[in-house]
Amino acid sequence: MITLNTPIDMHLHLREGKMLRDVIPYTYNQFAAAVVMPNLVPPVDNIDRLLSYKDEILQNSKNFTPLMNLFMREYTKEELEVLKDEIFAIKLYPAGITTNSEEGVKSIENVYPVLEIMQELDIPLSVHGETNGFVLDREREFAVVYEKLACDFPNLKIIMEHISTYNLVELLDKYDNLYATITLHHLLLTLDDLIGGSLNPHNFCKPVVKTPKDRDALQKIVKSGHKKVMFGSDSAPHSIKNKLKGAAGLFSAPVILPALAEFFEGDVETFQKFISDNARENFDLNIPEREVVLVEEEYIAPQLVGEVKPMFAGRRFTYSVKNF
Ligand code: DOR
Ligand code: ZN
Repeated sequence: MITLNTPIDMHLHLREGKMLRDVIPYTYNQFAAAVVMPNLVPPVDNIDRLLSYKDEILQNSKNFTPLMNLFMREYTKEELEVLKDEIFAIKLYPAGITTNSEEGVKSIENVYPVLEIMQELDIPLSVHGETNGFVLDREREFAVVYEKLACDFPNLKIIMEHISTYNLVELLDKYDNLYATITLHHLLLTLDDLIGGSLNPHNFCKPVVKTPKDRDALQKIVKSGHKKVMFGSDSAPHSIKNKLKGAAGLFSAPVILPALAEFFEGDVETFQKFISDNARENFDLNIPEREVVLVEEEYIAPQLVGEVKPMFAGRRFTYSVKNF
C-alpha cells in the first residue's frame, strides 16, 4: 500500500462542457488539486471568464482545489491586482506554438511590462518553452529565452513547463528562479513510441517526446527528488477523431498514479516529493490536505473515456487507486 499526502497535478487541461465532465473524475479521484490551463477558445484572460470556468470545475468535482492559470496578454496593474487572488500563475504561450495558442504572445518584449508587475505582485510565470524551429530543436533553442527571463526578472518565479530535453534539465540549477514540471509521457516515452513502429498519433504531443538520452535525464532528475522538479501531467484530452487529424496531446489522467507507483519502485519518499511536497514548498501552496491511497490490486487502463482514448489504454498496472 502507498499513501500519498495531497497529490497535486501542476499542469492540466480540462477543457469545458461535456469533455470536462467526462475527464475530470480521473483527476479529482487521484489529486487534491491541479493547476488548470487556460488555452480554451476564447482563452481564459479576464476575471469573468476565469470565475465562470473555476465555477464549472467546482460544480463538477469533489474534494478538489483548482488552481487557475490565466492566459498571458498585455494586462494592466489594476487588472492584475484584481485577478491576483483568484489565480496561481499566468501562462505564456508563444503565438501559434500549440493547441489554441493563436492569441498567444508574438514577442516577449511586448509583455515585459506585465512581467514587471507579476514580479512585484509575486505572481508566478508559467511558460510553454518552444521556438518555431526544427521540431526536435524547439525546446533546446528556447533555453536562451528562459535565461534572459531568469536574468531580467530575478524575483519572478518561472516554471518551465513539461520539460523534455536534457538541456533544460541542466539549465534548472543555473538560476534560482527557474522551476520545472515533468509529464508522465515525457518520463516514459521516446520518439520510438510515436514513429518507431507504425505511426502512433495517440502519442503525439507538444513538445514532442524525444530521445532516450533526454528521457533518461528526466528520469534521473525525478528519481533524485530534486526540489525544483514537480509533477505536471499536461494531460490533454482530444477526441479520437481530432487525434487522427493531428491534434497534439496525451490524455494521461486515468493512469497517472498507477504508472508513477511502478516508476518509483517502492521509493515512496521521492514519489511524495515529486507529486506534492516540492510544489507545496516552492509555491507556498495552501491546499486542504487529503490522502490518496494506492493498493496492490490490478488496474486496467480504460480503452475509452467519452470520445477520448487514454494513454496506455488497456494496459495492466500492479497498483490501483483505492475508492476510485
Ligand atoms: O500536447 C499538447 N497539448 N501540448 C500543449 O502544449 C497543449 C496541449 C493541449 O491543450 O492539447
Ligand atoms: Zn499543456
